[in-house]
Amino acid sequence: MKLHHPPSLPFLLLATVLIHLSAITFSTAAATVPTANNTDFIRASCGTTLYPELCYTSLSGYANVVRQDPARLARVAIGVSLSKARLMASYVSNLSRQADYGSDHRAASVLHDCHTVFGDAIDGITGSLQQMRQLGGSPEALRFQVSNVQTYLSAALTNEDTCTDGFDDVPDCPVKSDVSGRVVKVKKVTSNALALVNSYASKVTNP
Ligand SMILES: *[C@@H]1O[C@H](CO)[C@@H](O)[C@H](O)[C@H]1NC(C)=O
Ligand SMILES: *[C@@H]1O[C@H](CO)[C@@H](O)[C@H](O)[C@H]1NC(C)=O
Repeated sequence: MKLHHPPSLPFLLLATVLIHLSAITFSTAAATVPTANNTDFIRASCGTTLYPELCYTSLSGYANVVRQDPARLARVAIGVSLSKARLMASYVSNLSRQADYGSDHRAASVLHDCHTVFGDAIDGITGSLQQMRQLGGSPEALRFQVSNVQTYLSAALTNEDTCTDGFDDVPDCPVKSDVSGRVVKVKKVTSNALALVNSYASKVTNP
C-alpha cells in the first residue's frame, strides 16, 4: 500500500460538491434566521405610517417573509388588516346575538349596522389583497392595479368609520366604549396597510 498516494480525481470532485452543498446549506439557513436588516426594513417602512409602533409590532413577525420587498410588506399588512376586520365582524355579531339591550334599541341596531359595514370592509380588503396578488404587466397596467388596491382599502377604511359614526347618537354605555375602542384599533391597522401600499405605489410610479 502506497502511503503518499495523491487524492484521486473522484475524491476531489466529491470534496468540491460537498463544499458547494454546505455553502448552499449555510445560505439557506441565513435566509431563515432573522437578520437585523429584514427587521430594520420593517421599522423603517413603518416610519412612513401614521401609527409606526403598532405597524412595527403587528408586522415585525413577518420580517423574513417580507425580505425587504415593499410589495410583499404591503401584502402582509393587508392580510393582517383582513384578519383584524374579520375578528371585529365576528365580535360585533356575537355581541348583538348575546347581549340583552333591553329598551336600548339604538345600541342593538348600531351593532347590527356595524356587522354589515364590517362585512363591506372585509370585501374591500379582500379585493385589495386579490389585486395585490395579481400585479404585473406594463407600467400603466401596474399603476392602474395599484390604484385599485388604494381605492379598495380607502373604501374599507370608510366602512370602518361608518361603524364608529353609528355610535354618535348612542348615549355612553359599556358596549359603545368597548366596540368604539376596538374599531379604533382595526382602523389604525387598515390605515397603516394603506400607507404601506401608498409608499409602494410611489416607488412603482416614480422608479
Ligand atoms: C445590512 O445591509 C447593509 C447595506 O445594504 C450591509 O452593509 C450590512 O452588512 C447588512 N447587515 C446585515 C446584518 O446583514
Ligand atoms: C364569536 O362566537 C363564537 C362562538 O361562540 C366564538 O367561537 C368566536 O371566537 C367569537 N368571536 C369573537 C371575536 O369573540
